[in-house]
Amino acid sequence: MQMAKRKLIATAAMGIEALVAKEVRDLGYMCEVENGRIYIDAEMEDIPRLNMWLRTADRVKLVVAEFKATTFTELFDGVVALPWTDLMPWDAAFTVDGRSVKSKLFSIRDCQKITEKAIVEAMQRGYRKEGEWLPKSGAKFPIEVALLKDVATITIDTSGPLHRRGYRELHSQAPLKETMAAAMIQLTNWRPDMPFYDVFTGSGTLAIEAAMIGRNIAPGINREYFAQDWTCIPKKAWYAAINEANEKAEWDKPLKIYGIDLDPRMVKLAKDNAELADVRDAITFVHSDAAALKPKEEYGVIIGNPPYGERLQSEEEIIDLYERIGEQYAKYPGYSVYMLTSYEDFEKAYGRPATKRRKLYNGNIETQYYQYFGKRRPRPDRDAKPKSE
Ligand SMILES: C[S@@+](CC[C@H](N)C(=O)[O-])C[C@H]1O[C@@H](n2cnc3c(N)ncnc32)[C@H](O)[C@@H]1O
Repeated sequence: MQMAKRKLIATAAMGIEALVAKEVRDLGYMCEVENGRIYIDAEMEDIPRLNMWLRTADRVKLVVAEFKATTFTELFDGVVALPWTDLMPWDAAFTVDGRSVKSKLFSIRDCQKITEKAIVEAMQRGYRKEGEWLPKSGAKFPIEVALLKDVATITIDTSGPLHRRGYRELHSQAPLKETMAAAMIQLTNWRPDMPFYDVFTGSGTLAIEAAMIGRNIAPGINREYFAQDWTCIPKKAWYAAINEANEKAEWDKPLKIYGIDLDPRMVKLAKDNAELADVRDAITFVHSDAAALKPKEEYGVIIGNPPYGERLQSEEEIIDLYERIGEQYAKYPGYSVYMLTSYEDFEKAYGRPATKRRKLYNGNIETQYYQYFGKRRPRPDRDAKPKSE
């Protein structure tokens, strides 16, 4: 059996697939979104670059095969025929995870066991070591067998969780995933020359992600990936991705990013995280009330992931906070405001219906992303009146 034609999949949180697809296209690859997955038309050599640059994807997976399987025999035969020895060395430390949705083969445990058995047999045959134990002491290969409507997709995770950029060893009680923070920023009209206020900064995720976007720092510049140790990907592809990331980063680009929090311990935490991300100098952290914000410039972005009232605060306190920020930010019509919360009556408390709202999942919590568009900043090139002669 041949390897799958569509070789790579990026996975993403529900609701942000289109953003991931846009990022993939901006990197120069073709892709299509299907069943919540982003199928990327790319080669093995592109794995390092995609892992290095995708800010909003959860993982990049290598598709080993896709085939119909309604019986365990079909599943076994499909898996055993795949070119495992082209992908994995004899000592590969592979694991098999499983999923099944709307399929005849619904026992995930059995699907996993059959897949693993078929891979072991294919490896033993391929390496001419029939009957020998596989040492599983080498590079990691997290394999998944996912059945959807009787089609088995066999993938290997090349990434590890991409939201772990490596800068947030410490975090607040309710941190945003770095991938979700990047998605929220990409949904704003922020440009790196505009002020950016993360008014409930917590561990600093939104401010740090904005600094990385503003300076074109690859989100993966400081981390490791499963596929880094795979011999089936040329080492030079990894070096090329690292070189490109180093060349493109504008480490000294001045930015106007602010991280604000009422809790001084959070401000300290956010500063430490920004230090780890190498963007401490791009962000001004302030210990203050979000509702006391008085931006100096006329145009900019205010963004936040305020408390939802699911932890210590009472509903009255949450409503009071949302009312106060709503009143304060209304004084700055040149600012677009973006708030992510699961509190259903946010707009009522804030005092205005949002220009746009979008359902996003912050981990398992269903939230709405409320977007209030500010007055458009005049663009000298576009909006200037022609001079009279
Ligand atoms: C849901 S957490 C934000 C998490 C953050 N996005 C992250 O990734 O870590 C809400 C934060 O708002 C802060 N906070 C609560 N009331 C505030 C207020 N009135 N002004 C500013 N910050 C406030 C809390 O201290 C907490 O750090």
